[in-house]
Amino acid sequence: MIAQDGVLFVLLAVCGLSWASLQGNIRPKTYVDLGAEDVYQFNGNDTHTDFFRLVLHDGPNLLVGGRNFLHILNLTDLTETQRLTWFSSDSDKFMCKLKGKDEESCQNYIRVLTKISPGRYLVCGTNAFKPICREYSLQTSGFLMEKETSGQGICPYNPKSNNTAVFTNGELYSGTFADFAEVDSLIFRQPFRTRQFDSNTLKNPNFVSSFAHGDYVYFFFREVAIENINDKESIYSRVARVCKSDRGGFRYIRGCRHCWTSFLKTRLNCSVPGDLPIYFDQIQSTSDLIEGSYGGLNGQIIYAVFTASTNSTGGSAVCAFNMQDISEAFEGTFKEERDSNWLPVDNSKVPDPRPGRCVNDSRTLPESTLSFIETHSLMAESVKSVFRQPIVTRTSSQFVQIAVDPQVKTPEGKSHDVLFIGTDNGKIIKKAVNAESAENPKKLDLVIIEEIQVFPPSVAIRNLKVVRDDSVAEGRLIVISDSEIKSIKLHRCNSDKITSCSECVALQDPYCAWDNQGHKCISMKSAAQWSDNKNFLQSIASGVHSLCQKI
Ligand SMILES: *[C@@H]1O[C@H](CO)[C@@H](O)[C@H](O)[C@H]1NC(C)=O
Ligand SMILES: *[C@@H]1O[C@H](CO)[C@@H](O)[C@H](O)[C@H]1NC(C)=O
Ligand SMILES: *[C@@H]1O[C@H](CO)[C@@H](O)[C@H](O)[C@H]1NC(C)=O
Ligand SMILES: *[C@@H]1O[C@H](CO)[C@@H](O)[C@H](O)[C@H]1NC(C)=O
Repeated sequence: MIAQDGVLFVLLAVCGLSWASLQGNIRPKTYVDLGAEDVYQFNGNDTHTDFFRLVLHDGPNLLVGGRNFLHILNLTDLTETQRLTWFSSDSDKFMCKLKGKDEESCQNYIRVLTKISPGRYLVCGTNAFKPICREYSLQTSGFLMEKETSGQGICPYNPKSNNTAVFTNGELYSGTFADFAEVDSLIFRQPFRTRQFDSNTLKNPNFVSSFAHGDYVYFFFREVAIENINDKESIYSRVARVCKSDRGGFRYIRGCRHCWTSFLKTRLNCSVPGDLPIYFDQIQSTSDLIEGSYGGLNGQIIYAVFTASTNSTGGSAVCAFNMQDISEAFEGTFKEERDSNWLPVDNSKVPDPRPGRCVNDSRTLPESTLSFIETHSLMAESVKSVFRQPIVTRTSSQFVQIAVDPQVKTPEGKSHDVLFIGTDNGKIIKKAVNAESAENPKKLDLVIIEEIQVFPPSVAIRNLKVVRDDSVAEGRLIVISDSEIKSIKLHRCNSDKITSCSECVALQDPYCAWDNQGHKCISMKSAAQWSDNKNFLQSIASGVHSLCQKI
């Protein structure tokens, strides 16, 4: 750890930055050791690792995909209420082993899980390196299989592969590899895909997330950066999009009848500014798309965690991106390879209709638009982050996952996005982002509210989700590792340890306020409760309240 910090320190010195501007490893206000009270957990198979990855919240249920099973857990206490058992056939396992894969890889790992209509789910598994998708309806008696199809192009073959899928407007969009050897990467919606074996389109991607927004479906991933001609190995993070209305081109695109006519991508810029910016280039995870009021304007934001490199040196960061900035990048200048360099394309050379914009029927697009987008899927401008700098950085452990409780209202009348950041060493770091401060990095405070050791330091966090439901109105944080699922409280306002007004206010936790009449630290149950704001004392920004002393 000392060595890592040392490396960064030298870098910072070279770049003329102060240690503070990278925020270093800020100490949290509170280190939390979870007691047994108030933690619920589900332990998977005790003899084999489940490699849990997916979690789907549906009403009172939490669906979790693992190894040969899909578990349905009760949201309140994580008890298993039903399960789907789905083993690969002996012949599929036999073929898998014959091709040289080991026993553990030749199991069925659930890697796609979406709700297609009330009570109906699409579930895909790696099925011993021969992916299969099934549609199930959930009956009181259990899961009923309605349909089985090939999972090729939808679900990875390799359980270690990083894939994504999103279901929207009755169709499934996926980002994965479509072959055993993992060379055929694609973004796919039956029957349309990205151009095959074209490194300008995708080059060895690791997909992290996807969602639908407006006319488009967006994908977040990292991949080998073809435009970095100085370093052929370097990795950049990307956002890409396709039109929901894309129906391919009338003519074959370089022999591909069913290739997207709208696929565009660009770089995500999560960096500490300076003469030589420090880049965090490897996206690891994103939050859901969050809607709220930022700096007085309504907007949509996505938070993402990045590492500087895959091996654990160099630190990690959280950056936020505005959907408007993402759209602007796609409306901006294109990039192309010219004289063995990647250069911006003069706007006068861009055909009309503009490539990448959605049209009613892409099969009517002219030759000029189609042939331009064939060779120009990369934009010249990267997407800047909301604060032009990371919201939080760290060198002592790697950030790997993020979940956000959006727009948490406080008695002060403000809104905060509460970030829960999962690390590779079993921790959750909790931080509030004041929505008023959007676009103004000077107002971005450095406070880390809590650091929670959820799993032992040897265990990485694989997924995180904030859930709220009638049964858990206060909300819970679901934390997933390879072999365990835990449900923890979002805050510890009502802890026995907090007995005074000043202690309560010092937490700087948007969920907590001092109740002046009840004389205790309480948590918000509903926004309406805070309307009598004089009765509740809080000061997220400073952690001190002048009225506290007078009590
Ligand atoms: C654990 O995994 C093994 C091997 O796949 C399986 O035979 C066993 O039934 C599983 N146990 C439970 C409790 O699910
Ligand atoms: C998937 O992502 C994780 C986390 O970034 C990484 O450790 C792993 O190597 C990736 N898997 C593959 C096959 O690249
Ligand atoms: C990334 O953002 C930083 C800070 O705003 C800026 O200095 C840098 O030029 C940007 N880099 C790219 C590649 O856009
Ligand atoms: C696109 O389709 C919609 C509905 O079918 C129609 O109202 C609209 O005029 C069409 N737009 C164009 C540019 O053809």
